[in-house]
Amino acid sequence: MPLVGPKSMFERAYKEGYAIGAFNVNNMEIVQGIMQAGAEEKAPLILQVSAGARKYAGQPYLMKLVEAALQESDLPVVVHLDHGPDFELCKACIDGGFTSVMIDGSHLPYEENIALTKKVVEYAHDRGVWVEAELGKLAGVEEHVSSTHSVYTDPDQAAEFVQRSGCDSLAIAIGTSHGAYKFKGDANLDFPRLEKISTLLPGYPLVLHGASSVPQEFVDMCNKYGGKVGGAKGVPENLLRKAAGLGICKINVDTDIRLALTACIRKHFAEHPEDFDPRAYLKPAREAVKLMVQRKIRDVMGCSGKA
Ligand code: G3H
Ligand code: 13P
Ligand code: ZN
Repeated sequence: MPLVGPKSMFERAYKEGYAIGAFNVNNMEIVQGIMQAGAEEKAPLILQVSAGARKYAGQPYLMKLVEAALQESDLPVVVHLDHGPDFELCKACIDGGFTSVMIDGSHLPYEENIALTKKVVEYAHDRGVWVEAELGKLAGVEEHVSSTHSVYTDPDQAAEFVQRSGCDSLAIAIGTSHGAYKFKGDANLDFPRLEKISTLLPGYPLVLHGASSVPQEFVDMCNKYGGKVGGAKGVPENLLRKAAGLGICKINVDTDIRLALTACIRKHFAEHPEDFDPRAYLKPAREAVKLMVQRKIRDVMGCSGKA
């Protein structure tokens, strides 16, 4: 099946109260693990490529990996640019066959964010490509944005931003953050704020970044086999499930993939110090990614069987 855009995926997700998982890809094993999970769950998928992933693997390599995966699959799959930092990178991805891009102007003053988003929207829409934008700041470190304090999305501003910029979906800040250390105390999301934004933007797909749950089993496995991932804490799965019923149609996951891969590789090295064939440790790591994504599709996104 050829790549698709997210429009009909999000329309159905919104109506039926579930979310599509957007998983970050950096190499072949990650693409394969996610695609195998999607196939077993018959779930729609978003594979997303960050500027860093693009720099690491190269855009043509990642596109060819996705192309290869699609040759053996009949799942609806979107290829999306994650946190596009500027117009030029969005353009390169649109020209290179991505069906969706994010322009992240969240670090800019409001009017500049609107102007940049609008410029990408004009270019993308002429070519049938979807545009996600961001308003509000997540705590933690993004590639080009470093914010120690989050600034939650203002609901009235969000409604105006969508109307003026023409973006197709909007990432909002309601308490999540990127990486493995999301909460110092109790985990909490600002649901009244989410409900207000949803009410002001009826039928409109919202996006949740920084939505890894940081499974304790992977943190423990990393630490048991020589890692130092102390005090890591993610978004509880029940909060994500609740958000998926309130207008959040796309939930972004990267950290959990990194943890699953790294935990398994550490375990393998500890138990088989004699091994130096990458296939020996990448195979169980790929399987761990598959199982983790599969469970997420079923129990967190709620999009199993929706392909
Ligand atoms: O939100 C950021 C994603 O986790 C991508 O991370 O820029 O290190 O590839 P990266
Ligand atoms: P996590 O770090 O919580 O996995 O978030 C990933 C993300 O938002 C990618 O854009
Ligand atoms: Zn993000």
